[in-house]
Amino acid sequence: MVYFPFKSFGILAGIASLATVLAAPAPVTSSNTSEIASRRPSATPHFVVYSDSWAGGLPPTVAEIEGFNVVALSFLLAQGACDQALGWTQLSTAQRASIKSQYAAAGIKLIVSAFGSTDTPTTSGADPIAMADTMASWVLQYDLDGIDVDYEDFGAINAGDGKAEAWLASFTTQLRTHLPQGQYIITHAPVAPWFSPVYPAGAYRKVHETVGDQIDWYNIQFYNQNEYTTCDNLLTASSTTWPESSVFQINSSGGVPLHKLVIGKPASTSGANNGYMSHTLLASCIQEAQAKGWNAGVMAWEFPDASSSWIQSVRSSAFPL
Ligand SMILES: *[C@@H]1O[C@H](CO)[C@@H](O)[C@H](O)[C@H]1NC(C)=O
Ligand SMILES: *[C@@H]1O[C@H](CO)[C@@H](O)[C@H](O)[C@H]1NC(C)=O
Repeated sequence: MVYFPFKSFGILAGIASLATVLAAPAPVTSSNTSEIASRRPSATPHFVVYSDSWAGGLPPTVAEIEGFNVVALSFLLAQGACDQALGWTQLSTAQRASIKSQYAAAGIKLIVSAFGSTDTPTTSGADPIAMADTMASWVLQYDLDGIDVDYEDFGAINAGDGKAEAWLASFTTQLRTHLPQGQYIITHAPVAPWFSPVYPAGAYRKVHETVGDQIDWYNIQFYNQNEYTTCDNLLTASSTTWPESSVFQINSSGGVPLHKLVIGKPASTSGANNGYMSHTLLASCIQEAQAKGWNAGVMAWEFPDASSSWIQSVRSSAFPL
């Protein structure tokens, strides 16, 4: 997702073998309509919180994140689950079912986030079809509501040869064969500059043009890019370094529906190298965006800095609880 200040990948020692996943029986898709209804992507606004920081694999409690409606366990890597995504697999079936039913009662979806800043799937030569099959199977096996594609293969995007864009399109389309639209959430979490028209192969403009219809929304990382720290810069006027990459420019120039542009921010100064806004400033930008017709929602990196009090403050003017 972002900069890891401690590179604390001691936790990676616990990567679950994907062999386990592949050896598991094919998951049965529920034909229970009320179960399908409870999994359906919620309407806007989306308030998304990542849970990567180790908490024993237990997702935040409903009370701890009141005001958010999507939790993204992180991360499902190419080689298997790590951190909170791994922890989820280590809970008992009964524990998982209990947490899922508490979340469902509170209107909270639970998804997994794939890749993050440690994986470079295109550069590493991963097959997008096989990778999508494996990851979708994991989502179904562990009874999640969908998957967030936090693709951060900067080398592949910067190469400008179209391979990153093609990889993402194949991967997304194959995910949808297992996780049908309207029943499962599929989001992507690009950095905002990837919507700028400066990339010869198109970066996320091309991804959106190709498979945007299959993506429920974008959890856009408006941080670690040395900008997006004033409302104008974030909403209407990005810098000349990354032109047309503010929220309303991604809509007007990038052609992405406003309702898919979820604004992502770190919830603390230590959550990212830069791009942090105080919750009060962010709340005023959110209010300004809403007044201009935007209602997509907010993404936060990461729990526990991104807590109930943080999101309630950020929502307070535009979307009070
Ligand atoms: C369908 O799923 C819901 C929620 O898990 C459960 O309460 C209900 O009993 C199930 N219905 C059937 C017919 O299995
Ligand atoms: C901007 O977003 C709105 C609302 O989602 C959408 O109707 C419109 O087509 C978008 N603009 C462009 C240029 O795609």
